[in-house]
Amino acid sequence: MSRASIRARVPVQSTLRAFSKRRSVNSESGDNAESSVTSKHELPVRFEDISTAHYRIKDGIKRTHCDFSQFLSELCGCKIYLKKDFTQFTGSFKERGGRNSLMLLDENSKQNGVVTASAGNHALALSWHGKDLGIPVTCVMPITAPITKVSKCKKFGANVVLHGLHIGEAREFAMKEYADKRYINGYDDPEIIAGAGTMGIEILEQVPNVDVVLVPVGGAGLIAGVSLAIKTLRPNVEVIGVEPTNVASYAAAIKAGKPVNGFKEATLADGLAVPVVGPTSFEVARHYVDYSCDVPEKMIALAVLRLLEMEKLIVEGGGAAALAAILPGGPLYGKFNGKTVCVPLCGGNIDTSVLGRVIERGLAADQRLIRFSATVSDRPGGIATLARDMADCGVSVKDIYHERAWLQSNVDQVVIKCVVETTGIDHVNKLFEHLTSKGYPLEKNV
Ligand SMILES: Cc1ncc(COP(=O)(O)O)c(C=O)c1O
Repeated sequence: MSRASIRARVPVQSTLRAFSKRRSVNSESGDNAESSVTSKHELPVRFEDISTAHYRIKDGIKRTHCDFSQFLSELCGCKIYLKKDFTQFTGSFKERGGRNSLMLLDENSKQNGVVTASAGNHALALSWHGKDLGIPVTCVMPITAPITKVSKCKKFGANVVLHGLHIGEAREFAMKEYADKRYINGYDDPEIIAGAGTMGIEILEQVPNVDVVLVPVGGAGLIAGVSLAIKTLRPNVEVIGVEPTNVASYAAAIKAGKPVNGFKEATLADGLAVPVVGPTSFEVARHYVDYSCDVPEKMIALAVLRLLEMEKLIVEGGGAAALAAILPGGPLYGKFNGKTVCVPLCGGNIDTSVLGRVIERGLAADQRLIRFSATVSDRPGGIATLARDMADCGVSVKDIYHERAWLQSNVDQVVIKCVVETTGIDHVNKLFEHLTSKGYPLEKNV
């Protein structure tokens, strides 16, 4: 396990200043956030908000299954329970907070409607529950939002406006152009955090002997709510955040003591690609979360693949991030041997074309899809012989082509680039041993 990727919990200090006065003005930039820590008593979300939300939303939200996984438990060396929130009607846990926020609006705001900026799951959740509760919803979505999500929001009756290259621009536009409507932040409003926290209560009811809960982190609303619920009811249960290495905004906030930009590169866990965690969520989470870790893209792809192959479940990158942390090769692998670990699968909204690419990356990470080049003689039968030698090893050729014009080596030789399917690392080693014994100069991972 990589200790370096695990950050320690921040000690709680008390402050005399009221939280509301210190709250960041711009939650997406974090510009005005201050670094002192709010006392637990002053936090804008309390356990009672979560327990009342649990009761309030129960008729409109699915109580999703939390099932033991035999295969994943064997693979990871601990008892794994999968909390299947991707089976909510719109495909993610975001419905919990969305419905709670809408139900708590005053009559005037309900009639006037609400506005939000989101590229995906939160927009879908608000659109659906707005329709269900008769509340008009306007979603400003960046022009980069997946077409399937845009058209689903429209289908649910939302007024969809495409604006901005990213969520920050969409949000600015939404707040300016629809200033008369109540803006609902998908990860930082107290009502959203309280709604998300209801997942924590369900987990404790469904897995009473749970030792560890791993929570994917984007804007940190989910982990704020879940950690508050769990630590209130069962303080000994560990709550650990998991975020993509490419957008480790929670780790950046912990290091800086306040929300700061943690964006490095795009991630296939698009639901977690929030550059700056919400100040309200962060203020809550830093009191209750034990620590966090980050997972590289390769592990996220592998987690999506494992869920597909071992559990027959289709989960998006963000939804699979928590599993990525405890798979062999992940930063927490081996840390919870014999313990009971709950892994929330928070979302399943993945475009089919993206799923295809993620599967290929997962296969490559697993060494079940490999690239290499072999030099062969440029005489009739050269490639045929190589193909036969590969067939003797039982690998399946996906792609093969040869290069002549740019070669520096002998003119009577040609480099063949191959992409082949194997059954894993042992098979790859056998293939390379066999080809080397046949005298082919090889170059791996070209
Ligand atoms: C599938 C999925 N999982 C987890 C999260 C993380 O939630 P939060 O932004 O509240 O941290 C998101 C956020 O959109 C998500 O879409």
